[in-house]
Amino acid sequence: MNILAIETSCDETAVSLVRAEGDLEQARFEVIGDALYSQAAKHASFGGVYPNLAKREHQENLVPLTIRALTEAKLLQAGECIIYDTFTDGIREKKFRDDVTAFLRTHAKPDIDLIAVTQGPGLEPALWAGISFAKAVATAWNIPIIGIDHMEGHIVSALLKKDKQTFTLVPPQFPVLSLLISGGHTELVLMKAWFEYELIGRTRDDAVGEAFDKVARILGMPYPGGPEIDRAAKRARERAVQSSRTARSEMKKENRIIYDTKANNVILLPRPMIHDVASDFSFSGLKTAVLYLVRDMKELSDEDRENIAREFEDAVRDVLVLKTKRAIEKTGAHMLVVGGGVSANGYIRAGLETLLKEYPDVSLHYPTEGLTGDNAIMIGIAAYMRHTAGKTQNEPVVATGSQTLAN
Ligand code: KG4
Ligand code: ZN
Repeated sequence: MNILAIETSCDETAVSLVRAEGDLEQARFEVIGDALYSQAAKHASFGGVYPNLAKREHQENLVPLTIRALTEAKLLQAGECIIYDTFTDGIREKKFRDDVTAFLRTHAKPDIDLIAVTQGPGLEPALWAGISFAKAVATAWNIPIIGIDHMEGHIVSALLKKDKQTFTLVPPQFPVLSLLISGGHTELVLMKAWFEYELIGRTRDDAVGEAFDKVARILGMPYPGGPEIDRAAKRARERAVQSSRTARSEMKKENRIIYDTKANNVILLPRPMIHDVASDFSFSGLKTAVLYLVRDMKELSDEDRENIAREFEDAVRDVLVLKTKRAIEKTGAHMLVVGGGVSANGYIRAGLETLLKEYPDVSLHYPTEGLTGDNAIMIGIAAYMRHTAGKTQNEPVVATGSQTLAN
């Protein structure tokens, strides 16, 4: 079957066409059309995602991206479609309604069997852009529609294996523990069976990605801050390795022991809630600690910035790794899947890989390249899994805001 999937929960507008076949155990997917527009540059001056701007951008881009994805999939059907005003009732903004109406009037129903749309969690105005668009399209073309949880999408994307153009699913060995780390969420979720979730822990304040973005901003780095901090921390670590090498060779030359201060990061940041037995996280105190540190240091060199980035990343990694360790023991999970934008971070990955050496029976899974961040492919695939399992909800598709899949 062909699925049109739409994702607008945050600052990526994404439309994908996924061709899917097979049952829950042996599903295969081919991405036949994919169009993604990242608004990150537009939000950069705000240092984070500005919800109303995100909504406007989604509204601007949904029609062109849908045309692009359908064209790539060779599914675009120019032709007449009778459209009634009521089809676009869910769209309040006139320009968006006019754009959608004009698109639907001139395009007949393509060969699509299901429409999937992210219904939450996410920024409500942003979610509504995608949902109202998906509903209008589904009504005009008379195609069933299914609302998908964004976090389920991130979990599914970590279970995918890519072989040339085809994705297959790694068969989940339940219970599966998922560590979901993104700009909006930080959660440990236990997947007991397909579509059965239990929330093990979540952030009580900022999400990890949000902390990366805010700390980057404090250090004068552009949004999105995660990749910037990632690179800066790497430079600091490389410098430390280099200076410890130099120290070692000096040591050899002079036949004496030198205590190498440069190789040791002297900046210390807190590891919030690390000793708390609860599986919850908290990252806002860590960000504040960076803020005070920067304020007290007054002037920062590039090296200082990189050292702070390094210690921040160390603090985040320590907390994520230890909380994950405890959750593995508590839940007896057979698999650990890591999803969300922050799962692109190589240093955090390395920390989790080291952790799992202690648990040889637990396998570790990440999203394949290009699927760590928000995308519509994961939404289309999650929709297929639900559809195949007969879990197509009968409830109306509504934006669920910050509500997450386990509550
Ligand atoms: O999953 P995602 O694309 O969107 C949300 O659902 O939030 O995640 C975006 C977040 C941003 O906060 C971004 O700074 C962070 O993922 N991120 C990273 C890295 N790449 C993206 N954080 C740390 N290291 C990275 N390499
Ligand atoms: Zn996400």
